[in-house]
Amino acid sequence: MRDCYAEVAGWMAKLGMAVRIDAAGNLRGTYPAEKPDAPILLIGSHLDTVPVAGAYDGVLGVILGLTIAEALDGRKLPFAIEIVGFSEEEGVRFGCPFIGSRALVGRLDHDLLSRQDVAGISIAQAIEDFGLSLSDLPQARLDDKVFSYLEFHIEQGPVLESLSLPLAAVTAIAGQTRMEFTFHGQSNHAGTTPMNLRHDALAGAAEWIANVERAAQQIVGLVATVGKIDARPGATNVIAGEVRVSLDVRHGLDEVRKTAVKDLILLAQEIARKRGLGLTSTENLDQAAVSMNPALVAEIERAISHAGAPPHRMISGAGHDAMIIAEKIPSAMIFLRTPGGVSHHPSESVALEDVEKAIECGMHLLNQLASATAFQEHPHFDRMLQERNSRA
Ligand code: GLV
Ligand code: MN
Ligand code: MN
Repeated sequence: MRDCYAEVAGWMAKLGMAVRIDAAGNLRGTYPAEKPDAPILLIGSHLDTVPVAGAYDGVLGVILGLTIAEALDGRKLPFAIEIVGFSEEEGVRFGCPFIGSRALVGRLDHDLLSRQDVAGISIAQAIEDFGLSLSDLPQARLDDKVFSYLEFHIEQGPVLESLSLPLAAVTAIAGQTRMEFTFHGQSNHAGTTPMNLRHDALAGAAEWIANVERAAQQIVGLVATVGKIDARPGATNVIAGEVRVSLDVRHGLDEVRKTAVKDLILLAQEIARKRGLGLTSTENLDQAAVSMNPALVAEIERAISHAGAPPHRMISGAGHDAMIIAEKIPSAMIFLRTPGGVSHHPSESVALEDVEKAIECGMHLLNQLASATAFQEHPHFDRMLQERNSRA
């Protein structure tokens, strides 16, 4: 992370940006406006990744922000542009995503800070160990002058490719639940314990995992994933006594997701009871689905058209920092086609022509926002755009 920040911070500095790393480990650089104290447009995405990741999820959005600032070629706008590279969006280390972006909206609270990784290191400790200071967290919050947030991101799915479209405006982001379940059994000798006298935590977890897949297949639009499993003590000739499994559940409608999660918990309880196992579970995330700002979505569609591509609207199945920032300010996202629809994998890629289209779209978007006259009244910016769009 340090090497990544040094590289990206160097590029920011070359563009004349003031650069800092805030107390949540977000890398932030500001490209100045034509006048001091001007409104600020926030553009960003995340710089962390999943294990064995591709090269574009998150990082591309940060670099596109920088590229757009670079393409201004020194030209200043009526607003400043703050580029943010969020930390810990994926939730790999602490089982909980959006840690960096939550600091901007004031939701990096005590509860979250005390969450621990597998080594027992809390988020608070990790922040201090990185050389940052928790007492600086208030300065990580969004500046009052920030009027909108834009995030470029690869789609991470097959939809745009199937439609032969390079770009889309995201209208909403699906909600997600992340949990951890532990099946508690009795560890014992694999050779001497008859099958009918076992309390095998791994066999119980396996039965539940197969049922999770089956249950999710019955509900349109629902995705449920067990992506991580840890069996203890973890030896070929020992019956597993304790098994931890992750659960990730998503749907565009929060009620559907919540009902599905309740059913999957009941299913785990039933399987554990039947097998004489104990069961504990913790919820690491319950993130509601979030709509993107309609006025910004309309502006993005205009910008995509100006860039010579047909505009398209779609919902994001993946989670993004935009769903956190949208709690406080008008936010929207631009998706880029993902070849093969493959993401969270080293073969993740993006087409150069699509990146060029995204830059073109971004430049049009900046010009559209710059030509809007009401920046002085930026709390009403959103309404102003909506009115303008309804007149158009
Ligand atoms: C982020 O990549 C997510 O899990 O949606
Ligand atoms: Mn990701
Ligand atoms: Mn991402």
